[in-house]
Amino acid sequence: MPMPDGDILDAANDGDATSFIQPVMDEVADAVDRHFDSLLAIPDDPRSRLIEAMRHAAMGGGKRLRPLLVVASCDLFHIDRDRALRVGTAIESIHVYSLVHDDLPCMDDDDLRRGKPTVHKAFDEATAVLAGDALHALAFEILTDDATHPDPHVRSELVAELARASGQSGMAGGQMMDLAAGDGAFDLATITRLQQMKTGALIGFCVEAGAIMAKLPPEGRTPLRGYARDIGLAFQIADDILDVAGDEDRAGKALHKDAEAGKQTYVSLMGLDRAREQARALVDQAIAHLSGFGKEADLLRAIARFVVERDR
Ligand code: IPE
Ligand code: IPE
Ligand code: MG
Ligand code: MG
Ligand code: MG
Repeated sequence: MPMPDGDILDAANDGDATSFIQPVMDEVADAVDRHFDSLLAIPDDPRSRLIEAMRHAAMGGGKRLRPLLVVASCDLFHIDRDRALRVGTAIESIHVYSLVHDDLPCMDDDDLRRGKPTVHKAFDEATAVLAGDALHALAFEILTDDATHPDPHVRSELVAELARASGQSGMAGGQMMDLAAGDGAFDLATITRLQQMKTGALIGFCVEAGAIMAKLPPEGRTPLRGYARDIGLAFQIADDILDVAGDEDRAGKALHKDAEAGKQTYVSLMGLDRAREQARALVDQAIAHLSGFGKEADLLRAIARFVVERDR
């Protein structure tokens, strides 16, 4: 995959991160769509409805930010692009499953996702639950295939990390806390922990993936973990800001849901302006963690800026 031309250091550091990463983002999105297309062939039997629902959820939409992060972290260590995109498709599969379940009537009860009807609207609730389950399983099937990495220890570490990031100490745990955030009893420290689990853990996996595939010893991973922690939190604060101040057509989903549900977020606790300042400060801090890297980390730097520049 060609990288953007020109003085990438300037482009990555001087604003307009969105146009800097757009070409790479488009290529990652195409590759992820192609992977899902070949993994989700529609069978000529009664499972066809399930696979159609998985395709509806997984294909042709979303920013593909998580696969892009995997590619960017793998670029640091010159990991083969095809392998990076396989891991990117695995994490996107988990992310999409989390969205399908997040939109269910028993959770956020949403009708629109990525500009299309949510899976339970386009199909039905039972199919949406199963499509989420099957996308969850698909992620681990991708990671355990030796096309992802020839070393079984690396594959096993990828599986363990993604399981940890998805489960009770990660995304699912954060979603449980999020359900309780409607009761109005959380302080900022608790909201921070909630967001780090609900959104930050999967983003952390994406950044860690390059280090895992490069077999980087744990002590070498500290700067990357700092970067991931800061952009993960900035990303969810930006999502909460968009929920209050974004454009529904651009977002492709219903907004103003958090306030409607009386949900506590950085915005409800700090106000819009301070939440924006906080997100920007986190991005600067994330980029500072990368000071030991050269131009090979420019894509990660630009992604950090994109996280708060984005309008969708
Ligand atoms: C939305 O994630 C859900 C959150 C974790 C905030 P994204 O904003 O990455 O959604 P897509 O993948 O682009 O649709
Ligand atoms: C969803 O958070 C996070 C996960 C699916 C893990 P939100 O509920 O804020 O996401 P949106 O706003 O519906 O995309
Ligand atoms: Mg939710
Ligand atoms: Mg939601
Ligand atoms: Mg939201």
